[in-house]
Amino acid sequence: MSATRTLEAIKYTPGSLLILDQLALPHETIFEPILNIQDGHAAIKTMKTRGAPAIAIVAALSLAVDVATRAAKHEFKTVPQAVEFLNSSLEYLKTSRPTAVNLFDAAHKLSVVIQDSAKKATSPSEVTDAYINAAEKMLVDDVQDNKNIGKHGAAFIVENCKNKEDIRVLTHCNTGSLATAGWGTALGIIRDLHKNGQLKHAYCTETRPYNQGSRLTAYELVYENIPATLICDSMASALLHQNPSVQAIVVGADRVAANGDTANKIGTYQLAITAKHHNILFIVAAPSTSIDLSTKSGKDIVIEQRPAEELVTITGLLEGKNIPATVRTAAHGVGVWNPSFDVTPSELISAIVTERGVAVKTPGKSEFDMKAFLQ
Ligand code: MRU
Repeated sequence: MSATRTLEAIKYTPGSLLILDQLALPHETIFEPILNIQDGHAAIKTMKTRGAPAIAIVAALSLAVDVATRAAKHEFKTVPQAVEFLNSSLEYLKTSRPTAVNLFDAAHKLSVVIQDSAKKATSPSEVTDAYINAAEKMLVDDVQDNKNIGKHGAAFIVENCKNKEDIRVLTHCNTGSLATAGWGTALGIIRDLHKNGQLKHAYCTETRPYNQGSRLTAYELVYENIPATLICDSMASALLHQNPSVQAIVVGADRVAANGDTANKIGTYQLAITAKHHNILFIVAAPSTSIDLSTKSGKDIVIEQRPAEELVTITGLLEGKNIPATVRTAAHGVGVWNPSFDVTPSELISAIVTERGVAVKTPGKSEFDMKAFLQ
């Protein structure tokens, strides 16, 4: 296997969209057709597709295939009809999951494309074609952005770590090819370090309660022959204590506020605290589409609550048999709190790596100035 071989979770050709069902991984590779916005919404809500950039792209492309089918049947008779369908579909897709800002950013940018094309369009197909082109571009741009994140992040780690000969990093959740259009963000940095021969070892957390680490990141690391070890979330501090070669924790983001506070998978905050305690780098990696300047700080970020079932049950394959099974692990009747994300305060973050470069704090400041960084 080559180090640059990556999984593909979103297969798109004009008029056709397939997504890799991430609930079936790592046991089965099942591609599911997404025919319309209802399929796209359901795939995101049930987390068959997940990860901030992938959510935005699948939402955008589900509308691209939906509108292409309708346009082929000449369903839109006027420009306003096409505009109304596209805009209301984007509003509907935005209700699938609330925290990852990439979905809202994509919907906003696409609604501007719709509005601009409608101003000069003489037929509905001009508006639908403009929408489809813009949605397709998001898929292409995401891979390039991730490659740049990987490059900047790997260079930052090598430059700022204490022992360049033994670089080991820990990551949380899944931020790889499965969570994006390809390559990945935090996992893209790990992939770059590995590609450059600079990575000794990667560690990934199990990422309870939904196990994106053990189900997906471990799968990606094995798939690409990156030397890796799985730990459960409660082992992170012990790992850092025992192994000083773990010199950085690298995570993704669902929303970065203007001051750098970052919402990411539940468990990220405690990793940032332990990184601070052990005096190692804590790096957030995300495309600039994850930065939300209209959100001043983490206090304003809406955190999604997931169903209790995802905490009190575990789904896997019965050992030795090829039978998927869900088992209950908690007592019936116990109360459940199941936030999907937490917010890591900017003061605990060493750097925010984007496709444009690396944002750091002005010395002496505890917050980032993401607005200045994006200018
Ligand atoms: O609930 P999920 O699996 O969608 O959460 C994913 C994360 O928290 C990722 O770290 C984040 O979306 C970045 S993916 C490049």
